[in-house]
Amino acid sequence: MMTEHKNILSQGKALNKPVVLIGMMGSGKTHFGRLLGARLDLDFYDSDVVIEEKAGCSVSEIFERWGEAKFREVEALTVRDHLARGPLVLATGGGAMMNPDTAKAVFEQSHSIWVKANLRTILSRVSKNRNRPLLAGDDPKGTLQKLIKIRQPVYEKAAYRLDSSAKDTQKVLEQLIAEIYSAEHKQ
Ligand code: S3P
Repeated sequence: MMTEHKNILSQGKALNKPVVLIGMMGSGKTHFGRLLGARLDLDFYDSDVVIEEKAGCSVSEIFERWGEAKFREVEALTVRDHLARGPLVLATGGGAMMNPDTAKAVFEQSHSIWVKANLRTILSRVSKNRNRPLLAGDDPKGTLQKLIKIRQPVYEKAAYRLDSSAKDTQKVLEQLIAEIYSAEHKQ
């Protein structure tokens, strides 16, 4: 019985909806998204990477050439498109949920997971990567603090939370998968 249960859990295709990771840049959405995709046997997508592949250039270059508004437009379409594809795992860019239509669709049509990280963790992670145009100014810490204040009330509405600094990542992920699976089977 136990083995049967485990087998079902290892097949993400038993899920009916996508799994969408939301949260601040540098929180670990891509890292956990990849792990979840592998564990659930589902394809993993990172919306920034999808957009970069479509545009043929980096997120920073998209901001420079066409502006943030254009990026947000393509980002909203990218998330909407992936939500319509059935079970998969999608990591969204940190600002994607600031579009109210995107937020509504993600909360209604997916298993939404807020990947939660503290400011210190976020700062140390983003400092290793230059592809974050919003932090290009001279006060990335202050910018992050402002963004967290604005965005957290939206992230908090996610159905699940994943503490990105949890020590036993494997255990946390298994618990999360069990919760997602049981939520689907209650519906
Ligand atoms: C952004 C986050 C980035 C990327 C863009 C804007 C944001 O994605 O979409 O630089 O507004 O927080 P990550 O959250 O994957 O870093």
